[in-house]
This record gives sequence, structure tokens and C-alpha cells, in this order.
Amino acid sequence: MPIQEVSKIWFNGKLVNWHDAKVHVLTHGLHYGTGVFEGIRAYETKRGTAVFRLTDHLKRFYRSAKIYFMEIPYSLDELREACKAVVRENGLKSAYIRPIAFRGYGEMGLYPLNSPVDVVVAAWSWGTYLGDEGIRNGIRVKTSSFRRIDVNTIPAGVKATGQYINSVLAKIEAKIAGYDEAVMLDSRGMVSEGSGENIFMVRNNVIYTPSTASGILEGITRDTVFHIAEDIGVKVVERDLTRIDFYYADEAFMTGTAAEVVPVIEMDNYKIGDGKPGPITRKIQEEFYKIVKGESEKYSHWLEAV
Ligand SMILES: Cc1ncc(COP(=O)(O)O)c(C=O)c1O
Repeated sequence: MPIQEVSKIWFNGKLVNWHDAKVHVLTHGLHYGTGVFEGIRAYETKRGTAVFRLTDHLKRFYRSAKIYFMEIPYSLDELREACKAVVRENGLKSAYIRPIAFRGYGEMGLYPLNSPVDVVVAAWSWGTYLGDEGIRNGIRVKTSSFRRIDVNTIPAGVKATGQYINSVLAKIEAKIAGYDEAVMLDSRGMVSEGSGENIFMVRNNVIYTPSTASGILEGITRDTVFHIAEDIGVKVVERDLTRIDFYYADEAFMTGTAAEVVPVIEMDNYKIGDGKPGPITRKIQEEFYKIVKGESEKYSHWLEAV
């Protein structure tokens, strides 16, 4: 689906016209994937539009930059304001917000520390990534033949642009084979995550999810699910999981800022449970939407008004 263009993009400290937010073709990050980014959502709430866990996303942004020795030339407060400004100034009621910092134009070659760091924050209206039908009725996933990058190959726990070529391969393979999403295994063959989502399964009323040792991104939606599970009295266990564990599972679901909370009803042609979204998945979804839409007092601090 084409990007729904709006009017302004925050580009190195200024709001510029959407079509003027351009870089040189010899931008370092374009050639070598030397960028870090975030994906954040703003939701329409009763108290106006608010960004969900904005500060937590920005903290991860700085963590990602640290791994690549990238000094972001703006403070967290400045970027927080930039994220809010692109929603506000473009008149968006709800939005997907994309901050990105990348090594810019200056030097080529693999040592990036002499290249400038450019920072951009864009926002646009983006429906749920795996579709409303997926949210309602669940998706079919396929184990990818491409393994998730090992934590000692590229630190997968941070969001660097270059590492996403791994996810792109898995996503293409799954889509061509007729599935909605890929599930990648780690280098040991344990389930890691989707191409852009964390994954969970439920068995005997306990939620299981792979740990950070499996090369996952520490998802903010994943962390939100941990809080919800505690509130509804369901235990969460982080441990190694095989794909066979998922074939036996009663329920499964994926989480991510773009995808939100999506039931998984089939994996590698095996029905999960009875092949319908399960009750714990439904409860987690319900609580998640209450939180992001500002209907939960307990988590109102996670919503930052624009
Ligand atoms: C590879 C990968 N895993 C997991 C996630 C979910 O993370 P979050 O819930 O913070 O969006 C994302 C999306 O950002 C992702 O790209």
C-alpha cells in the first residue's frame, strides 16, 4: 500500500515540506545500512491524540545508536517534541511515527564514524500492518528457511536499518508461498520472532515467548503484553521454544507497534488450537486496545499527548 503522504517531515531540526526531505545518493546509510530507527504509534483517545510509550521507544532509539557509536545530535526531549510535532502539524488524529538516524553524506567505506548523522522524523496514517482481517480472524504463518541473525552476527536486540534485510528475505519467502507472515528460527533452530513482530504461544493457560537469547527485538508491545498478562493473572514464561511447541499450542499471537496484537491461527499448515483466535489472545487484544485508546487509568502514563 502506498504511503499516505502528509505535508511536513522533521528533518535535522526543522519541519520541511514532505517532498523536500531528500538525501544524496552517496548517503552512507543507503549503501551500508548504517542507520537506526523506531516505529511508534499515536492513537486517538478521549483526551486527544496521544503517542503510546513514546519515551520508551526513544530510549530504545538511543540504545540502538549506542551500539553503532552513533551520537544523535538531538536530546531525547528534542526528539520527543519532534515526534509530537509531526503528528500535530500534519493534523493527524492517529499516526505511525518513524524516527530514523543514519550516517549521511561525507565519506564512503565501512568505517562510519567520520560521516555525519542525519535525523528524520516522519509520520503518516498507517492501518494495522497485517490487516484488520488478521486482527479479527488471525493470520497464517510459515517457518522461514532464513535464520534470524545471530546475536553475535548483528545485535538483533536493537533496531538498525541494515539488519532488516534479514526480515525482508523471510517476508518475501512467506508471502510468495501464500502466508501472511514469516517466523524465523534462531541459529540453534529455536523460534525467534516474526519479520517485524514478536511471537507468543499459549499452552494450558500459560503464555510462552522466546527470550532475548533467540535474537529477538525487545518489543515494547511484548513488554506491554507482559503487564497485561500479570493484570489478568496469566503467567508468562520466557524460554527456548521449538516450532513443534507451536504446532501443539492452544493459541498463538504476534505483537508489534505496526502489527499491534494479531492472533496466529496456523503455522506451517498446522492449525493452532481449533484454528481460531483463542480466549487469552482475545483478552490480551481487548486490554491492549483499552490501554492505547486511553481507557485504562493504570497505564495512562504510557500515553503522551501531542
Ligand atoms: C524484528 C521485530 N521484532 C519485533 C518488533 C516489535 O517491537 P515493538 O513492539 O517495539 O514494535 C518489531 C517492530 O518494531 C520488529 O521489527
